[in-house]
Amino acid sequence: MKERDDILKRKVQKVEVVPPEELAKLDEIIDRYEGRPSYLIPALKDAQEMFGYLPMEVQRKLASGLNIPSSHVYGVVTFYSFFTIEPRGRHTLRLCLGTACYVKGSKDILDIIVKEVGINVGETSEDGRFSLEAVRCLGACGLAPVMLIGEDTHGNMDPKDTTKILEGYQ
Ligand code: FES
Repeated sequence: MKERDDILKRKVQKVEVVPPEELAKLDEIIDRYEGRPSYLIPALKDAQEMFGYLPMEVQRKLASGLNIPSSHVYGVVTFYSFFTIEPRGRHTLRLCLGTACYVKGSKDILDIIVKEVGINVGETSEDGRFSLEAVRCLGACGLAPVMLIGEDTHGNMDPKDTTKILEGYQ
């Protein structure tokens, strides 16, 4: 029973509502790009930097501030993988599962992450430490298998080192 209540509580907490005082910070970005709807992508990037993600309230306010239909803003946010509508973990793991990396063991790295961090691709750990993404090629096949953690590149990875590398990111 307690376990079920905890799960429900976590689910309820995931329904993010951005407080009005936080949302007001968007005015600065809207002022910067006002009257320039073609600057939607930079505006969204700035907003994501500010909030960490792009919840619906943020998208709607930007849409109305820049005089762009909300549906268009949503379409752009969901088209580009570097935008997210869900809160992300403190560290984003981008594991390459492209051919060069796959044959050199990135699937083993993925299995270790799934087991040790407890998340699958597209998920964020409950403690907010990691989000996991799979990519097709990072353009660094000579370093296969490759994983990015935030801005750091981990190349020529031995799957056995995965745990130790993750420990460096708290
Ligand atoms: S396939 Fe992994 S970097 Fe190209």
